[in-house]
Amino acid sequence: MSKNVLVTGGAGYIGSHTVLQLLLDGYRVVVVDNLDNSSDVAIERVEELAGELAKNLSFHKVDLRDRQALEEVFAETKFDAVIHFAGLKAVGESVHKPLLYYDNNLIGTITLLETMAAHGCKNLVFSSSATVYGWPKEVPCTEEFPLAAANPYGRTKLFIEEICQDLRRSDSEWKIILLRYFNPVGAHPSGYIGEDPRGTPNNLMPFVQQVAIGRQPALTVFGNNYSTKDGTGVRDYIHIVDLADGHIAALRKLSDPKIGCEVYNLGTGKGTSVLEMVAAFEKASGKKIPLVMAGRRPGDVETVYASTKKAEHELNWKAKYGIEEMCRDQWNWASKNPYGYASPNLN
Ligand code: NAD
Ligand code: UD1
Repeated sequence: MSKNVLVTGGAGYIGSHTVLQLLLDGYRVVVVDNLDNSSDVAIERVEELAGELAKNLSFHKVDLRDRQALEEVFAETKFDAVIHFAGLKAVGESVHKPLLYYDNNLIGTITLLETMAAHGCKNLVFSSSATVYGWPKEVPCTEEFPLAAANPYGRTKLFIEEICQDLRRSDSEWKIILLRYFNPVGAHPSGYIGEDPRGTPNNLMPFVQQVAIGRQPALTVFGNNYSTKDGTGVRDYIHIVDLADGHIAALRKLSDPKIGCEVYNLGTGKGTSVLEMVAAFEKASGKKIPLVMAGRRPGDVETVYASTKKAEHELNWKAKYGIEEMCRDQWNWASKNPYGYASPNLN
């Protein structure tokens, strides 16, 4: 079993939840994050939740592109594996600032891979995205579907997947798992850690949460004339704790001698519309979410959900939670931390 794990981007939304699950599962974790889109309060909260296991966590404020600083982190600890979350992820921003995205996501990843190789650590779990399926011809999406990217953010995911495949072809010591996440939502059930986007949220549930606490007046629904059950877009929402646990399953899989560079979807296999998600959140929070119907968002797709068979069979992992728990935990986090990590501690 991998014991010393480096987590890049471990202060972020998915990273912080995964770091907690790793600690609770007995791993020793080193986090590197430049805090560009996160807060060190997230790390402090993870430490509190981990109790005495917090002694197995250390944090370095490091940018992955800073080769010297990364080198020092690798010189200090011999890592068994790396989980690589660090990257920029705002689709709209990536369209306006493509070079920023290519520099941060691609150069950051290449610097990481080179440093790993130099230190003989060739076990990697990488955060890819369902965005690489583009507008799929049919659903559920299986890992063999043709890939596409509609924007620079998506292209960084595609390119990194290809880089990883090439790396493995060049050197069979590498073991790489590419995880394609569907739509992570919710928060840790403690309400102590959760998603805290900077500025106006782009994604559905962080926006809904801000409407519920009065930070936004209404949710704009992007399109209600899709060929779906109620005309709104359909996605595969997955509870953040299930997603975090998927990373532990992937780490375990890295010790399978048959692993080369493998791809797995992490989703629930269920499609939920925008209106269904809003109704579930209203039920969980007791708050009315005013809606404004609007046109489709450029680049949006109609329906995307995962085939979960491969992850179930090969990773022995399956999502446990449904949208009720996702909305309950999202609201628990939002109501206790209305201004995210900048909120006074109401827990
Ligand atoms: P996040 O922004 O909360 O976390 C990413 C973290 O990486 C942040 O803490 C940020 O400060 C850090 N970071 C960015 N560039 C860095 C660099 N050069 N050096 C060091 N740290 C850096 O995002 P998240 O939602 O937790 O996503 C994690 C990963 O999963 C990302 O790669 C993202 O593209 C991918 N992903 C996310 C979603 C989603 O819906 N949240 C879906 C699919 C894939
Ligand atoms: C978006 C990104 C995708 C990224 C994913 C996870 C775009 C075009 N796609 O996907 O690349 O991998 O986030 O970070 O940005 N919605 C509203 N009103 C809102 C927000 C969203 O109606 O204010 C709708 C959307 O139209 C969609 C659904 O809610 O039907 C989910 O949207 P979102 O949370 O942004 O996720 P994705 O569209 O799947």
